[in-house]
Amino acid sequence: MVKMAEDKRVEVSSLLDQSILSEYEKIEIVLRLYRLLKGATLYERNNILIERLTLDCLQIITPILQREGQLFLKIVRDGIFFNNVRIPIKADRYAIFKNFIQEISQKGIGSIEILNEISAEHLREFIFLLAQADAHKEDNYLYLNQQLAQRGINEVKTDKIEFFKDEYLSMVAKNHKEFAKEVYFKSLNLVREVAEGIKNQKVINIRKAKHLMQSAVNSIMQDESALLALASIKNYDEYTFNHSVNVAIYAIALGQRIGIPKKDLGHLGIAGLFHDIGKLKIPLEILNKKEKLSAEDWGIIRAHPVIGTEIIIQMKEWGELSTRLISATFEHHLKYDLSGYPKLSRKKNLTLFGKIVALADFYDALVRPRVYRKFPYVSEKILGFMLERAGKDFSPALVKVFINMIGIYPLGTLVLLNTNEMGIVWQTQEDPDLIDRPKVCLLYYSGGEYRKGKEVDLREIDPETGHFKRWIVKTLDPNEYNINVAEFLI
Ligand SMILES: [Fe+2]
Ligand SMILES: [Fe+2]
Repeated sequence: MVKMAEDKRVEVSSLLDQSILSEYEKIEIVLRLYRLLKGATLYERNNILIERLTLDCLQIITPILQREGQLFLKIVRDGIFFNNVRIPIKADRYAIFKNFIQEISQKGIGSIEILNEISAEHLREFIFLLAQADAHKEDNYLYLNQQLAQRGINEVKTDKIEFFKDEYLSMVAKNHKEFAKEVYFKSLNLVREVAEGIKNQKVINIRKAKHLMQSAVNSIMQDESALLALASIKNYDEYTFNHSVNVAIYAIALGQRIGIPKKDLGHLGIAGLFHDIGKLKIPLEILNKKEKLSAEDWGIIRAHPVIGTEIIIQMKEWGELSTRLISATFEHHLKYDLSGYPKLSRKKNLTLFGKIVALADFYDALVRPRVYRKFPYVSEKILGFMLERAGKDFSPALVKVFINMIGIYPLGTLVLLNTNEMGIVWQTQEDPDLIDRPKVCLLYYSGGEYRKGKEVDLREIDPETGHFKRWIVKTLDPNEYNINVAEFLI
């Protein structure tokens, strides 16, 4: 008996050993299949680009099929397996992998099996069938297999996605935007409550903070655009509270992209929420001062990371979380090369939490208007600045991932298109190559105000010219047109 079990183990492991996909192959399969799938949603079957994308796929798939006899792609939770080997997701390709998984699993498909060498014609046909399958239809796999059989395509089979209970619950959450809104405004209230609590020396409700940040993590993992859109909304009245929630959102979204495990992402969110907790002890007349700050004022403001750290140390209720909160609070103005504040007497390695919160903090602080700055800086300027300061103020790797996440035209940017239409950036593209072609919600003027028009995808090609239909000419200042971007986004 024991012998048999051992034999079996040997058999399984040698089987796995046989599947040696190179790093290049692992990544290229996903990239090329994703491009073809995307292409199939934009172009006709006989388009020359489709032909090229199909051949690109075959170039990578055929040698694997010749070598291994089959290609079995399976989606398990948020990961992809090829021939039972998990594909590591690298940060710079994160968006594409995530999008690929989402596109396929949304259609109810959990695995694709290619059993023999496949022709270009059959592969193309299969991808078009897959692209045309409706989202949220559980029995798509049956339909697909039937359509494939009817066309005599026997090399490919699909199977349904296996949901795990928690994933399923979040997938069926009806209105994702509503859920994100609830999380955002509840978090805002929580920060307000905590601020009050600290002033009045009351006990803080840690469980509520943990629960809310876990919900924020779920929302971001499902679709980050809803919370990122809320974070991009400018609100003059409650800068401090909004800023805290936004930093938490940017931090979680960035953390997710670099592969921080789910349970730690919740902690990262809490660290984001309370990074500026020390500011509660700084007089409001300094924080809200419209005139230039004096050297003395700056001295007081610069004390907030240390004051914050002291507040957290005194709060026993944080438990195991406390070290992480301390890192983010203490380090968020230190800068990557430690040239910031507080001044250190000894060299120190920054923590990942500290580095992430610093970046999220910097972006949100600049992109949002402050009492002494009437208009926010335009995002492209801030992102450019971040790039310039990478390696000095910020971790270069994190800056790269962050810019991919925000896009050069972040959510809520008012833009002018080549067609003379005006629109608001509605959804950024996951594919970094298409960073300048977001989805835009067009605006039209009627009854004395701008109204929401149709949604357009700037990737769309004009079939007559073969060129893009629309592109962004420049960004516009919403204040000049009396447009409240928030109204359109939420
Ligand atoms: Fe700060
Ligand atoms: Fe801050």
